Amino acid sequence: MATLCVNIDHIATLRQARRGVEPDPVLAVGIVEDAGSTGITVHLREDRRHIQDRDVELIRQVVRGHLNLEMASTREIVDRAIELMPDISTLVPEKREEVTTEGGLDVVGQYQQVSEATTRLKDAGISVSLFIDPVPAQIEAAVRCGATEVEFHTGTYCNARTAIERQKQLETLIEACELARSVGLIVNAGHGLNYHNVLPVAAIEGMRELNIGHSIMSRAIFIGLAPAVTEMARLVELATTAPERFRSRP
Ligand code: PXP
Repeated sequence: MATLCVNIDHIATLRQARRGVEPDPVLAVGIVEDAGSTGITVHLREDRRHIQDRDVELIRQVVRGHLNLEMASTREIVDRAIELMPDISTLVPEKREEVTTEGGLDVVGQYQQVSEATTRLKDAGISVSLFIDPVPAQIEAAVRCGATEVEFHTGTYCNARTAIERQKQLETLIEACELARSVGLIVNAGHGLNYHNVLPVAAIEGMRELNIGHSIMSRAIFIGLAPAVTEMARLVELATTAPERFRSRP
């Protein structure tokens, strides 16, 4: 059964717009968890453009569910993660000039770096997830690296402009999920998911968790944080309790 894990980076983005103290992402943790999120996801970027080290330190102390730390696979950030001890580290590609994470991690092309980071994190007791595109070569490389989980990048599915294209991308995600599970990986997904496109992804068999940030924070501006999280959590639950209703209708 798929669950929702809310990414709260954008609360920090708003705070950093004034370089002040509000809104504080730490204060969002209890609200988001009470409203239906199984944990908290934050991305500690190398440039610290939104989430700061202090945020992760405090969130680590107050979160009741799991803490998923999105991060680059560089030595400096891996050192920091080992100090911060999230429950899960999700390794993502990171470029300074990008607006948000663009595309999945190239585990095949950066095998040495990703596998070293994975080993160090796992040795420290942190579960490692790799944020990858839903393609067989990346899935196979993720297993060889020793990752315990993958998160499939859903951006191409979310950006599809026609129903036919969306269906094609959904099928790609379904096949990737089957392959990843068959080789023992836990499967998650995220990026670009919103209240309109989440149902078919949440209905994929074996999908464990959806990481969603932007659409929830956008809705929270109008209806409040707790209701925005609860609406999304209910959609995810609906899709998992009646998957046959949503599997073939993106
Ligand atoms: N998963 C990963 C690995 C991400 O980098 C992001 C964006 O920070 C998300 C999920 C959430 O994407 P969105 O904000 O579009 O819901």
